[in-house]
Amino acid sequence: MQEIKIQSLEQIQEAARQFVETMGDRTVFAFYGKMGAGKTTFIKAVCEALGVDDVVTSPTFAIVNEYRSDTTGELIYHFDFYRIKKLEEVYDMGYEDYFYCGAVCFIEWPELIEELLPGDTVKVNIEEQADGTRLLTLQDPE
Ligand SMILES: Nc1ncnc2c1ncn2[C@@H]1O[C@H](COP(=O)(O)OP(=O)(O)O)[C@@H](O)[C@H]1O
Ligand SMILES: [Mg+2]
Repeated sequence: MQEIKIQSLEQIQEAARQFVETMGDRTVFAFYGKMGAGKTTFIKAVCEALGVDDVVTSPTFAIVNEYRSDTTGELIYHFDFYRIKKLEEVYDMGYEDYFYCGAVCFIEWPELIEELLPGDTVKVNIEEQADGTRLLTLQDPE
């Protein structure tokens, strides 16, 4: 269990770098937290910390956005399962090809596809505190 605090949007790149340091060779990261907690914002900051230049161009309604790190050339996948109504939609998009390909995957609303998460998924909880700061709690896979 590890914690990372995001003091403000000004400090988010620093928090993102701390997160990158904890990633190691793990690839699938599930972000839990309420609407507005800051999942999308933090994932984008982490993608930037991983060398992605074009994070802002993502279409709004895609289940998965693909980014490429300009520093490593590797692909990063950012999922938002918020609008998923049936697991069938997730099977149809070929989720296994993403989760098990070795590329980094960041997942929003993982609770909607919980049973499909790989066993070694790192669970990240993000919570807005009373003072507006965000607290990230990282749960290592068992
Ligand atoms: N670390 C942060 N500090 C302050 N405001 C933040 C932070 N992260 C996100 N926000 C703000 O909160 C709102 C919701 O963020 P968003 O990342 O879309 O949340 P989520 O994806 O969890 O629904 C946005 O207006 C964003 O600017
Ligand atoms: Mg979001």
